[in-house]
Amino acid sequence: MTVSGGATSPIGVAHDYGIWKEAPVLIGTTSFEPRPDVKNIMITGGAGFIACWLVRHLTLTYPHAYNIISFDKLDYCSSLNNTRILNDRRNFTFYQGDVTNPSEVVDCLERYNVDTIFHFAAQSHVDLSFGNSYGFTHTNVYGTHVLLESAKKVGIRRFIHVSTDEVYGEVKDGDDDLLESSILAPTNPYAASKAAAEMLVHSYQKSFKLPAIIVRSNNVYGPHQYPEKIIPKFTCLLARHKPVVLHGDGSPTRRYLYAGDAADAFDTILHRGQAGQIYNVGSQDEVSNVALCRRLLGVMGIAHEPVPDDEFRRWVKYTHDRPFNDHRYAVDATKLRGLGWEQKTGLEEGLRATVEWYRLFGERWWGDITKVLSPFPVVAGMEVLSDSEPVSDNPQTAGQGSGKGEGSGNGNGNGAAVNGSGHHHHNG
Ligand SMILES: NC(=O)c1ccc[n+]([C@@H]2O[C@H](COP(=O)([O-])OP(=O)(O)OC[C@H]3O[C@@H](n4cnc5c(N)ncnc54)[C@H](O)[C@@H]3O)[C@@H](O)[C@H]2O)c1
Repeated sequence: MTVSGGATSPIGVAHDYGIWKEAPVLIGTTSFEPRPDVKNIMITGGAGFIACWLVRHLTLTYPHAYNIISFDKLDYCSSLNNTRILNDRRNFTFYQGDVTNPSEVVDCLERYNVDTIFHFAAQSHVDLSFGNSYGFTHTNVYGTHVLLESAKKVGIRRFIHVSTDEVYGEVKDGDDDLLESSILAPTNPYAASKAAAEMLVHSYQKSFKLPAIIVRSNNVYGPHQYPEKIIPKFTCLLARHKPVVLHGDGSPTRRYLYAGDAADAFDTILHRGQAGQIYNVGSQDEVSNVALCRRLLGVMGIAHEPVPDDEFRRWVKYTHDRPFNDHRYAVDATKLRGLGWEQKTGLEEGLRATVEWYRLFGERWWGDITKVLSPFPVVAGMEVLSDSEPVSDNPQTAGQGSGKGEGSGNGNGNGAAVNGSGHHHHNG
């Protein structure tokens, strides 16, 4: 591989203790006839969670057909460990760059003759978006605009934009799953920034005939997810024999898709998706945050299911809710299944694989995660800090607390971000 980038800082390139060599190489399961019109694929956010699965999947599944360029600024939540296993692959390149920097984006597109873009890079943690909304708008909206304008400039053949089910807003219990044609009604600053980004994608498609596809996925979980999100965070806490902290009363539900199934969805969309279309990616597995805690206690062998109440009270605490917390999301993925995609990993199996991975690697993959695991971390520049807010034994009702990040609610309070640096920062 080659490493290049507009940035000169060695951020993230340090701290290689070789832990990645011990880890299993996790990819998706699908494989298609390579497309003749695709050769050089740039994947933004490639050192982050979901994109690293796709980077590994495409690099290793199509070694002779596609060159993969992972483009990432290496923000606080990323790790080069996520793709180090690819460093000796001829068809893999890492480029350290920022999507909000047009000269870095254009340099990467031109240098590697990119024809296809998967745009994952974003500020992805909902909790932090209540405190640092400007950083979310800057990266998620302006960054997407920069990519679109750059893609137009170099004549990109295919632009696959990664959005979220959160753009639809809350779906009531019992309501039908939402189709791709549903109206967008985001309720938090993160979701609003993702919806705004979609509007720009749509406009470039109409105005400039940019061949774009939009993908709206529900929560994704699995190995390699930064432990600010609920599943890895609670797993790491329980592995340390520490209680977890739910927002509010823990009643909001979320649907969870294993990262390998998400990689398959993106592989399927690359090979069979139609320009101009929108695809929902949805899982069958919906659980409340409280039920998720019970499942984790069971999978980790801390308590047998059904978990007795006294055990549950010992391990699960509560704090106030987010300023607003959607009760649930529900997308209908029939259209994507029509392209041949299916969910292969159920929640139980996925949680087992995830818990196993975090037990082995969670404590060392990103360096010291103690502050990330604190009930109320905030991010300042590249640094994660602990905050302190009251934690209670009892569920908090309306106007107090529960949570979900993208990847779900994670006991982070309302995540008021600290701008410690004085200059613009993008990490929520
Ligand atoms: N995690 C989920 O459950 C979920 C669900 C639906 C949609 N999504 C979307 O999928 C995408 C990836 O989510 P994730 O959870 O893997 O995120 P993540 O936070 O793990 O990774 C984001 C990556 O983007 C990089 N990045 C951030 N700002 C950047 C910038 N300005 N320039 C270049 N790189 C930058 C970070 O360094 C990081 O590697 C996001 O667009 C998110 O909105 C996530």
